[in-house]
Amino acid sequence: MDAAEPTGIALLGATGSIGASSLDVIARHMDRYRVVALSAHRDVAAMERLCRRFRPALVAMADPHAAAALRRQISDLSDTAVAEGAAGQTAVATHAEAQTVIAGIVGAAGLAPCLAAVEAGRRVLIANKEALVVAGSLIMNAARRSGAVLLPIDSEHNGLFQCLPARPGQPLSLAGVERLVLTASGGPFRDRDPATLSEVTVAEACAHPNWSMGRKISVDSATMMNKGLEVIEACRFFGLPADQVEVVVHPQSYVHALVQYRDGSTLAQMGNPDMRTPIANALAWPERVAAGVAPLDLVGAGRLDFAAPDDQRFPCLALARAALKAGRGATAALNGANEVAVAEFLRGGLRYDRIAGVIEETLAARPAEPDDTLEALIGHEQWARRQTTESLQRGRHR
Ligand SMILES: NC(=O)c1ccc[n+]([C@@H]2O[C@H](COP(=O)([O-])OP(=O)(O)OC[C@H]3O[C@@H](n4cnc5c(N)ncnc54)[C@H](OP(=O)(O)O)[C@@H]3O)[C@@H](O)[C@H]2O)c1
Repeated sequence: MDAAEPTGIALLGATGSIGASSLDVIARHMDRYRVVALSAHRDVAAMERLCRRFRPALVAMADPHAAAALRRQISDLSDTAVAEGAAGQTAVATHAEAQTVIAGIVGAAGLAPCLAAVEAGRRVLIANKEALVVAGSLIMNAARRSGAVLLPIDSEHNGLFQCLPARPGQPLSLAGVERLVLTASGGPFRDRDPATLSEVTVAEACAHPNWSMGRKISVDSATMMNKGLEVIEACRFFGLPADQVEVVVHPQSYVHALVQYRDGSTLAQMGNPDMRTPIANALAWPERVAAGVAPLDLVGAGRLDFAAPDDQRFPCLALARAALKAGRGATAALNGANEVAVAEFLRGGLRYDRIAGVIEETLAARPAEPDDTLEALIGHEQWARRQTTESLQRGRHR
């Protein structure tokens, strides 16, 4: 490719929160980046707007009805093809003109396209933490085989990445790394009276104090399952055991992650809580580009507080750590059970304070450990979804 030619970008989950932040950064640098392919599930109106603005060569809607509707809506855009179903997501992830793929689908639905991009040897920017939770070793091994460069855009993992030595592939112990620290804001219920958690509404759970995000990750942040998924993600991504990945509550969300070194040094990555910073960092790496984010005003910030997480208030964090210890089947099942429980809470069918118990019950009933193959891991994840759905249908958690 000509050095001056813009980098082709494929964006999975283009209509979501990560999609919007990514397109905001890309739009600031149209000389460097060109949107060639976009995907979503079924938000036709949002996708039509993106097609008219960015003129991608290919868009894919996972839902075939949405794909048909989009085809009608953009029939005047003769240069944009519309694909559908799982094959459409893979076509976006492996588009021949895309050197960089942003994995921004929510949930395990993002796993197959993310893996396809990795197998195709692309530079893959991973926001879709559930893919690493369900099949982390498959993704990391596929990257080693294909030569794909994986860059984290989950803010904490991108913060770690920025504090680590720029020698990908080197074991972190050889680089003198002792511990990775992820910060957690504590979400909207950090100080709420635990006796009232049974009354939490969907609107309250989705109203994160510092970050603006999609609904599923917002609920995960409230329960702190998000931090549990991130501990798993960090272990898989950076190749460290669980006891070297710590969580610290930091309500201001200015420090995103820290790396502690053998010599007593602790490096921290800081910034305003805005996903455009980690996205810009990964898009341009090893260079830096403007993200539209104001620099951190330390005097305005005033103080930075840190505290240990409260395991009683946030049982999902301990559930995630236990699953990580138990192995890949447990983490796949944890993800499936959590996705079903959170969706049921968002639908109004499950009390907020019962989410952890539902997941725990599914994990306790797990069948034998699956093989480390995509089919086996997805099968295990789907077993957990069925098991959780049945348990919810029995109604014991209402
Ligand atoms: N938002 C953040 O600030 C943030 C920060 C760190 C990490 N993350 C991670 O990034 C991922 C995306 O989060 P988000 O907050 O951007 O979620 P979101 O706002 O809910 O957006 C999700 C995106 O995924 C698409 N999608 C959903 N189901 C799909 C399916 N079955 N097939 C194909 N596409 C599908 C949606 O399409 P439709 O719009 O058509 O439904 C939408 O484009 C999650 O894994 C999350 O944990 C997010």
